Amino acid sequence: MAAAFRALPVLAFCLLCLYTPTAFGSSSASSTDFLRCLSSSIPSNLFVTQSSPSFTSILVSSIKNPRFFTPSTVRPLCIVTPTNASDVQSTVLCGRRHGVRIRVRSGGHDYEGLSYRSVSPGEVFAVVDLANLRSVRVNSAQATAWVDSGATVGELYHAVAKGSNGRLAFPAGLCPTIGVGGHFSGGGFGLLQRKYGIAVDHVINAVLVDAGGRLLDKNAMGRDVFWAIRGGGGESFGIVLSWQVKLVPVPPKVTAFIVPVTVDHGAVDILTKWQVVAPALPDDVFVRVLLMGRTASFQGLYLGTCEALLPVMRSRFPELGMNRTHCREVSWVESVLYVYVGSGDLIPEGDILNRTIPLDGFYKATSDYVRQPISRDVWAEIFTWLAKPDPGLMILDPYGANIGGVPESATPFPHRAGVLYNIQYMNFWGAGDDEGPHIRWIRDLYAFMTPYVSKNPREAYFNYRDLDLGRNVVVGNVSSYEAGKVWGEKYFKGNYKRLALAKGKIDPEDYFRNEQSVPPLVPRR
Ligand SMILES: Cc1cc2nc3c(=O)[nH]c(=O)nc-3n(C[C@H](O)[C@H](O)[C@H](O)COP(=O)(O)OP(=O)(O)OC[C@H]3O[C@@H](n4cnc5c(N)ncnc54)[C@H](O)[C@@H]3O)c2cc1C
Ligand SMILES: *[C@@H]1O[C@H](CO)[C@@H](O)[C@H](O)[C@H]1NC(C)=O
Ligand SMILES: *[C@@H]1O[C@H](CO)[C@@H](O)[C@H](O)[C@H]1NC(C)=O
Ligand SMILES: *[C@@H]1O[C@H](CO)[C@@H](O)[C@H](O)[C@H]1NC(C)=O
Ligand SMILES: *[C@@H]1O[C@H](CO)[C@@H](O)[C@H](O)[C@H]1NC(C)=O
Repeated sequence: MAAAFRALPVLAFCLLCLYTPTAFGSSSASSTDFLRCLSSSIPSNLFVTQSSPSFTSILVSSIKNPRFFTPSTVRPLCIVTPTNASDVQSTVLCGRRHGVRIRVRSGGHDYEGLSYRSVSPGEVFAVVDLANLRSVRVNSAQATAWVDSGATVGELYHAVAKGSNGRLAFPAGLCPTIGVGGHFSGGGFGLLQRKYGIAVDHVINAVLVDAGGRLLDKNAMGRDVFWAIRGGGGESFGIVLSWQVKLVPVPPKVTAFIVPVTVDHGAVDILTKWQVVAPALPDDVFVRVLLMGRTASFQGLYLGTCEALLPVMRSRFPELGMNRTHCREVSWVESVLYVYVGSGDLIPEGDILNRTIPLDGFYKATSDYVRQPISRDVWAEIFTWLAKPDPGLMILDPYGANIGGVPESATPFPHRAGVLYNIQYMNFWGAGDDEGPHIRWIRDLYAFMTPYVSKNPREAYFNYRDLDLGRNVVVGNVSSYEAGKVWGEKYFKGNYKRLALAKGKIDPEDYFRNEQSVPPLVPRR
């Protein structure tokens, strides 16, 4: 970043000479002028337009959900692949000057594809794809690291483990190919959350390019914006290039485990018990549940040996019947792969660096939070949903301990004290299948669950983005704060307003906008 900061004065000067706000339309004149501006500001090999031979391969490179890679998907005018901060600043300045909006993509795992597609036909936009900005610099003596947004969490985990001889880790998500940029800016939880909280609880600095093309660190962006990008969704506030994080200690060997239980072997009762046991276990034990078909698979991580874990499980959760055969004593990096893949096989550590994403699973997902245990009868009925035609799956992640111990307003991620667990509903299908029944299954199950989950608002996890929860309504030139409450308070509860105020400070004209970006709120004087 040091080199990038040195470029700042030059760009700040350009900002003054170039910047004039223009209307954001779909005129081809503005597109042509934008591309001409890019050509004169960044090397031509750093962007491709729809007519470039490599456009499709670059576009698809990090798409996770092929639902948004179809002939009717609204695609970007061009994709910029910057190699440093000044390329990003130049792109923003060209976008502002010529009325072309930017969507930023880090790992491309957005559930609704908002980092690379628009819902509105005719919207002209560019994508800034950060895949080339992905270095990780670990300072093991200080237990900190700088990680660029284009790194995957797998790359971060690998670098942290390698740089610390396996003594340090980072508490974030399970899927190794998710991008740091989207994941961190939306929260970021995983197997270490009960011990250490979530990714944003450990961010100590960040570097952001704002809508004026300025490069800002924590102090320069100000307290409110630095608060906002730690869980409020980066895309509303600018382009986060880098994050400095605190790392956390782990033992050289941890214990991963998977205990599958079928309905015939008591899954309903065990699950009913799990709801109160898992959020109250010691903070170094994490037990989530994956529900699929007639099986509840209890998957977990313990920060210690199997020998130390078994007495805890036998006394706190004897119903699970856990024994030594369920334990795998592995390194922390191996534990991530073991639980993520879930096949029962150990996966070589190096695989965590694999950035290739198989483009075969079409999916729709949504989420809930549970604050009161759900009754046994209702769980029995939920298993009938999992046995319907075209069923999906559910993942239950326990909270409590140190994820719950953080005040609701400390970060935009508000799902803290009192949450027992998060539910993720997911339904998958293949190419050529009719998506209708799969999407209907999720929507109907979500409706069925209404009485049993959090209310007023019905909470949802921002990183499990679902456009069914609501979309922005643009009034005049900006997204409406009032209309945004519909989805914003589900994701952020009372933090929605403070996010909108932060947006009003850094981007009052709503340049960085998507279907679920935080609308600006500018207090009347
Ligand atoms: C298979 C799978 C497994 C997952 N597992 C977990 C999990 O274990 N825990 C968890 O918490 N979540 C999980 N998620 C959800 C994941 O955290 C989100 O989808 C996350 O937003 C992905 O980040 P990304 O950079 O890959 O996505 P992108 O699609 O690149 O971006 C997502 C959003 O963030 C914005 N954005 C991206 N980069 C930046 C940036 N640098 N600056 C500003 N805005 C930016 C984008 O514009 C977009 O709106 C999972 C998702 C998938 C598909
Ligand atoms: C950023 O990269 C561009 C093109 O690759 C190069 O021309 C420029 O000098 C770089 N800027 C800095 C500050 O490194
Ligand atoms: C809003 O956009 C219109 C065109 O879409 C433009 O004429 C007007 O100046 C803009 N207003 C502001 C306040 O930016
Ligand atoms: C461990 O539990 C499994 C079932 O979950 C059982 O089949 C196996 O016999 C048990 N092993 C021991 C040593 O108790
Ligand atoms: C990387 O992952 C892809 C998709 O899962 C797989 O096809 C490929 O073989 C993997 N590559 C390596 C080197 O393991």
